[in-house]
Amino acid sequence: MNYNEILNNGSNYLKKYNFKNSLLESELLLSKVLNKKREDLILNSKNILKIKEIKKFNEFLLRRKRYEPIAYILGFKYFWKFKFITDKSVLIPRPDTELIVEESLKHIPKNISKKILDIGTGSGCIAISILKERSKCVVTGLDLSIKAINVAKSNAKLHHLGNKINFVNIDIDKYNSYNYDLIISNPPYINSIELNRLDDDIKFHEPKLALFGGIDGFKSIKKVVVRSNKLLKRNGKLILEIGSKQKFKTMKILKENGYYVNKISKDLSGKDRCIVSTKL
Ligand SMILES: C[S@@+](CC[C@H](N)C(=O)[O-])C[C@H]1O[C@@H](n2cnc3c(N)ncnc32)[C@H](O)[C@@H]1O
Repeated sequence: MNYNEILNNGSNYLKKYNFKNSLLESELLLSKVLNKKREDLILNSKNILKIKEIKKFNEFLLRRKRYEPIAYILGFKYFWKFKFITDKSVLIPRPDTELIVEESLKHIPKNISKKILDIGTGSGCIAISILKERSKCVVTGLDLSIKAINVAKSNAKLHHLGNKINFVNIDIDKYNSYNYDLIISNPPYINSIELNRLDDDIKFHEPKLALFGGIDGFKSIKKVVVRSNKLLKRNGKLILEIGSKQKFKTMKILKENGYYVNKISKDLSGKDRCIVSTKL
């Protein structure tokens, strides 16, 4: 079988199971099997596959049929300007979360050292992206999941930041290091009703610890706001990602806990998703 034939077979198989981007996914899976760029598959469409390559491709198709996210099968995902290792122990980095990076960079002048904490670092995508852009900063990422911390460490190594970033496996409630200039967090904020309505890709494969924010979705948001008040310097900034319907309640929680709300930024679909606030 040649590249062109297997790509069409894969695409038709995925289409049969209602995957919308079936050809693109088929190409991504084959490029992973062959360790080649997608363009190379098209340019060499008449190349013949080895039996073990066909077998591997079929295994990937089967995993995808069970709704395993493409990023877990490929083992990576692009975020901001960089590639991040992703496996089932971490949330797949989302484009919406790039808002946190964008807003953070506005508060960190180049060549200035700021002390930064990323609460619930997961793959480390936010912490690492900020440090890549602002190399003078001192960044710590913490996470309750040891598996997530291990992925974050691998990502730091991948980006040659192994010695420059500190990852800590701890519950935010127990973390006691103070005087941060900036705290960033994309906490779990999905409520019980939304959790049941998530797409199968997310619901059955991404870590519940990374998604579920308690019955009302505010448990971790509250925790991060309250703890950050202790960990931030006066006038330090807290930059939080929230769900699209969580703006008003989060603003109330922030105000009740001694913050001034500076700004709320919208994602590409115009929804309020990122709150910048200052500890008074
Ligand atoms: C929504 S994910 C964000 C991951 C990553 N920062 C990103 O934006 O892609 C939330 C992360 O918070 C971590 N987490 C949940 N509860 C926590 C807690 N009490 N203390 C520390 N980390 C926690 C989860 O393990 C998960 O990695």
